[in-house]
Amino acid sequence: MDYDIAEQKIKKIISESDPSHLLQNCLEFLYEKFAKYSWIGIYLVKGNNLILGPWKGMHPTEHTKIPIGKGICGAAAKTGKTELVTDVSTDNRYLSCFASTRSEIVVPIKKNDKIIGEIDIDSDITDAFDTQDAVFLEKIANMLSKHI
Ligand code: SME
Repeated sequence: MDYDIAEQKIKKIISESDPSHLLQNCLEFLYEKFAKYSWIGIYLVKGNNLILGPWKGMHPTEHTKIPIGKGICGAAAKTGKTELVTDVSTDNRYLSCFASTRSEIVVPIKKNDKIIGEIDIDSDITDAFDTQDAVFLEKIANMLSKHI
């Protein structure tokens, strides 16, 4: 799906969703429309950890609590910068969740410059993510931050 169209659709989903289902509805939309997004979840910052919130994918992850600073997720939460890993097998920070994962993108969610969570996406395709995904997901993160 075209990123601009997806952005407009997400805006619509946000405006029409019940607050208790809003994050889940957005994740489900992204999961369904972007085949390369094999697993998608939102982690929320709680103290020194990231706690898994809503997610969508074939399997649950055992990493439901990640210390800030650990893994690719923890790195993004520490620096506030998007992490884009083209090949997880070459990144020694990587915490493995699914045997099928080849690449990953993690986009921080910020509120008034404070990191409150992140969007984590795994892909079963090597080098699945580029700057277009990063820019798109940073916009989505910004929209979602108003509802967390
Ligand atoms: N791979 C992540 C852990 C979360 S799972 O991908 C869902 C990491 O390295 O932090």
